[in-house]
Amino acid sequence: MLEKINAAVAAIREKTPLIPKVGIVLGSGLGGLAESVQDPCVIPYKEIPGFAPSTAPGHAGKLLLGKIGAVPVVCMQGRLHYYEGHRMEDIVFPIRVMKALGAETVILTNAAGGVNTSYKAGDLMLLTDHINYLGTNPLIGQNEEQIGPRFPDMTYVYTPALRELALRTAKECGLTLQQGVYLSTTGPSYETPAEIRMFRTLGADAVGMSTVPEAIAAAHCGLQVLGFSLITNMGAGVVDQPLSGEEVIRTADARGHDLQHLISAILEKM
Ligand code: 6GU
Repeated sequence: MLEKINAAVAAIREKTPLIPKVGIVLGSGLGGLAESVQDPCVIPYKEIPGFAPSTAPGHAGKLLLGKIGAVPVVCMQGRLHYYEGHRMEDIVFPIRVMKALGAETVILTNAAGGVNTSYKAGDLMLLTDHINYLGTNPLIGQNEEQIGPRFPDMTYVYTPALRELALRTAKECGLTLQQGVYLSTTGPSYETPAEIRMFRTLGADAVGMSTVPEAIAAAHCGLQVLGFSLITNMGAGVVDQPLSGEEVIRTADARGHDLQHLISAILEKM
């Protein structure tokens, strides 16, 4: 694993000397934030050893290294999902590479369905916590102690100080931020109305198909984490209307710039 990480780091370092401070994972339809990266060094995943190709719609499959404002960042334009058939260790590999490149923090973004009935499509949610409903865990298998501990603590995955910074910055930007618990399913089917009711009972506020593996791997390797969901639609049965992947991408496109603005403003203060 470490050799594989080092090979990816070496391939990236051949293209740019930039040492990122923050890693950013862009979710469905949120690739627009990549445009805030100044003079980026753009590397297709297929040119980085160990990176699996990204196949999901709205996910470009490119790694960008550059600065947003004064902050050096590494940005995944296009993430890997379990429903694409990727192995968990491949899904979290880029997070470990970000850490090895020098990042101290990762910002994870996603498009999600609203489970909390006080939410509406277009809302932004700050992740306070998550529920791993994937039925698996990216840390299963032999543990590499140089990366992190066998039984990592998950009490403060979403770094409290960064959450405070996000709330303060959102207020200054005049943006309303919901705060809630993100639950991840494997997908790719959306939930039934009964499953959405169950998830509400379990304590979820939003549901999606990503982020949890990356957050677990980030916590494992000692990265600070900040997570945002763009609520692109309500979960099944909350409103009497079917869900579609096109609606998810459309809302993400329409509301993505607010999240883009918020993340840029947060970076300025980091
Ligand atoms: Cl309603 N469910 C899941 N699992 N992922 C989503 C979603 C819903 N809306 C956007 N992504």
